[in-house]
Amino acid sequence: MLTRRKVIVCAGPGGVGKTTTSAALALRAARLGRKTLVMTVDPARRLATSMGIGTALDEETRLENASVYAGAPVARGELWALMLDTKRTFDRLIERHSPNPEIRERILKHPFYGQLSTALAGSQEYMAMEKLYELWSRKSYDLLVIDTPPTEHALDFLDAPRRMEDFFDSQALKLILRSTRTMGKLGASLFRVNALILKGVGRFVGAEVFLAILDFLEAMTALSAGFAERSRRVAELLRSDEVGFVVVSSPENSSVKEARALLDRLRAERMSIDAFLLNRVRPVYFGAVGTAEEVESVVLDRFHQEEALRIFPQDLVQVTAKELAQAVTRYGNLAHHDVRVVRELASAFGNALPLVAVPYFGRDLHDIDALREFEQRLARAAAHEQAPT
Ligand SMILES: Nc1ncnc2c1ncn2[C@@H]1O[C@H](COP(=O)(O)OP(=O)(O)OP(=O)(O)O)[C@@H](O)[C@H]1O
Ligand SMILES: [Mg+2]
Repeated sequence: MLTRRKVIVCAGPGGVGKTTTSAALALRAARLGRKTLVMTVDPARRLATSMGIGTALDEETRLENASVYAGAPVARGELWALMLDTKRTFDRLIERHSPNPEIRERILKHPFYGQLSTALAGSQEYMAMEKLYELWSRKSYDLLVIDTPPTEHALDFLDAPRRMEDFFDSQALKLILRSTRTMGKLGASLFRVNALILKGVGRFVGAEVFLAILDFLEAMTALSAGFAERSRRVAELLRSDEVGFVVVSSPENSSVKEARALLDRLRAERMSIDAFLLNRVRPVYFGAVGTAEEVESVVLDRFHQEEALRIFPQDLVQVTAKELAQAVTRYGNLAHHDVRVVRELASAFGNALPLVAVPYFGRDLHDIDALREFEQRLARAAAHEQAPT
């Protein structure tokens, strides 16, 4: 995947490691000799800083950190990082699609525009896809690794372009605009419109605000053909064999459920899925874990062997053994849950989809060395996946 694809999209539920995975995959591709750009959305501040993009919105930055390239199998790779600036991407989109400078200015200078471009539901997802298309068209990288924004629902980024299109296409919007037009030029018939609105929405938002919104929407509809065409092309790109998806999930039941729904959706949309990455899998350290009582007696035995009782008071040893036993049992149950999830997914996927399990590291992964470690675990897990023993 890392040597063949031109675009890799990391998608999945919130908080499972999409950003970390994107960075680690890009790092590996760069070490395999490809000029790679990772586009992240909202990375953890410390990760962004260690990648050299702490404050640089919308700037493609080359990582010079020596440990990125040290001992790389192929020397000529490059790792670049970019933090998406949704506002600036939106500005460029408006500039590109405006039929004339007058409409462009009317939109960009409109007081609602500032709010819309940052706050419109789904605008982040839409902008991520827009930026992907822009970078892909430029063809200055061998590989683009795309991190998707944290969303309530993993499917949001797929639906964002369509939502934008639907909005411009909606009957409600057309109706509103048509009725205001038949009432004459907005300014001229302000009085009549005012009277109408005061009876309805005016009570909530005020007639002037409402008219300003209408004015803005009318200017925006001039762009709708461009938007629609663009989202068709993005969808086409996502379906092409240049693009592969990596679905990331944690072993939490709710995450797995959401990630599998995303898989089904991607398949239905005829998009290529290269791997299912199960991240933060808690390793089993203790073999079969018994009940808290059984573990407690093992711990107590151990304390007796070590003659802990000669040094520490009896009740302290007993309390410690109890607490330790509870912690071990609780962890053991979680680790066994994760093992079950790995088994279930492996049997559900069979040979149809590579399942790559990456362990929980017990600490956050916010610097290049931690990313290297993640990248190596990823590579090892993937090699194991290909040649299961
Ligand atoms: N295998 C791992 N072991 C331990 N910590 C991890 C692991 N993978 C990721 N993390 C940590 O988990 C946190 C969330 O990871 P990340 O930001 O990559 O998730 P995300 O899916 O991008 O989240 P969001 O949906 O909010 O964008 C980070 O602090 C990261 O360092
Ligand atoms: Mg993220």
